[in-house]
Parts: sequence; C-alpha cells; structure tokens
Amino acid sequence: MPELLIENRSAHYVGLGKGAPLLLVHGFPLDHRMWSEVLEPLSRTAHVLAVDLPGFGNSEACHHPRDASPAPLSMAYLADWCAHFLDAKGLDQVAFCGLSMGGYIGWEFARRHPNRWTHLIACNTRAAADSELIRRGRAVAAASALNQGTAQLAMNMIPKLFGRSVNPDCPLQRSVEQMIQSVDPTVVAAAQLGMAERADMTEWLPTIERPVLFVAGENDTITSPEEMQQNSRLVPNSQFAEAHDAGHLVPLQQPERFCRFVESFLDETRPKMA
Ligand code: MLT
Repeated sequence: MPELLIENRSAHYVGLGKGAPLLLVHGFPLDHRMWSEVLEPLSRTAHVLAVDLPGFGNSEACHHPRDASPAPLSMAYLADWCAHFLDAKGLDQVAFCGLSMGGYIGWEFARRHPNRWTHLIACNTRAAADSELIRRGRAVAAASALNQGTAQLAMNMIPKLFGRSVNPDCPLQRSVEQMIQSVDPTVVAAAQLGMAERADMTEWLPTIERPVLFVAGENDTITSPEEMQQNSRLVPNSQFAEAHDAGHLVPLQQPERFCRFVESFLDETRPKMA
C-alpha cells in the first residue's frame, strides 16, 4: 500500500486506474477496505484513490494511543488533511466521494477548499448537525470505547451498518467487524467527539453550484433515504439514487449499483469535448 507523509505522519492509500481523479473517503470507524468491491470497477473509467484517514487502517494517528481525554478529531481538520493529500499527490482537483463520516468531511472539504473539487458524491450521509440526544450518545460511546475497547462497538454497529440486510455468516460483515475492532479506541473516541461538534450544512446546500450525487440505501437506519432525498432537493445541480436491498454501506452491499450510479453521474455531468 503506497505511503505519503502528511504533516510528518505516514498516510496510506490505494490508487488504481487512469483518468480524472476520484477520491474515496471512508466512514466511521472503517478504512479504505470498505471500498474494496468498487475499486477495480471504478478504476476502469477514473483514477481512484481510497485513503485511510489519520488513525484508521494503516495511517498514523494524530492522537497518542491511550490518551484518556483525546481532543475531537474535527471534520474541518480531516477536510484539510484531504487537501494536504491532494497536494502530496500533485492533484489540483478531484471528484470527492465520501460515505457517512466521509460525507461530513466532504461538505467541509467543499466549503473550505472550493477550488479543489469538480463533483461531490454524498453516500449514506447527512447534512444536518447532530441532535442533542445523538451528541450525548456519542459522548457515552466515546467513553465506552476508551474504557472497554472496540469489541462492544463492533457488536453495536454491525446491525446499524447492515440494516435489514444483516447476516452473521456473511464474510463482508466479518471483515467490517475486523475493521472496527482494529481501530485504536482513542481514535474512535476522538472521531465521535469530532462528529458531535460538526456544523449544520443544510442551509449551505442551496449555494452549491457544482454537481452533487446523493446515494442512499433503502434500509439505511442511520441516514434515511427520505432525509437524503430532501437534502438532494436543496442542491440545484443534484441527482438522487437509492440502492435497493442495502443499508448504510451501499458500496459494499450493492457494489454494482453503486458503480453504475457513480459512473453515469460522472459521465453525464463532465463537460463534453466539442
Ligand atoms: C459512519 O458510518 O461514518 C457513521 O455512522 C457516521 C455517524 O456516526 O454519524
């Protein structure tokens, strides 16, 4: 897996294919492997780059392990980290595709680095900030990760991530479980606190001028398709696509549909040569 230095810390990613760059940013608490089913198919028409955010997968964390009260890993910091990643790769602009937490980072990236992106793909993600109830839940989850590790988190998250399509014998589910368990509890806690303090982007959506694709999962209980469709109606140049028989992880659960949505969106919205 190639390595770069970002702010003097090692950062890992997978890069595949040629053409216009497509940056894939994973959800919480996962890593680049959540794109494993779509990397090769998407690389037939794009230069696909799937990163491990700091502290996830193979990328070095910005927190010390076993820090008893870690600072929040903010979405703004992670958006800037993505811009540093583009600098390190020598890329001016990308199509930015983020799933869930990756999508929260995508809104920040789009706002903070308006010249660095051509398209946004918001997959299984929300624009609203957390309610007070969800924020309190995140504080509890952060404390529990710090006190008890990530095994319990994995058990709690699997049914939420897979929705009604949950199946204990499925190898995909086992690999997601392993991804969650492999994250340092300090990073889990820092990311929960970072997501809890993220800004509400709903009022900003109507000001986006470039193309945005919203991809929802029919059975997603974390990010409902209805809410995503409402958000898509707020963006002037947007498309909405819903994958049947998928929960919160459309690229893993319905990879062929996901690739079709993304490829036709990019194809339809790229400027055509005269
Ligand atoms: C994710 O998949 O990134 C998380 O479900 C996001 C969240 O906890 O809001």
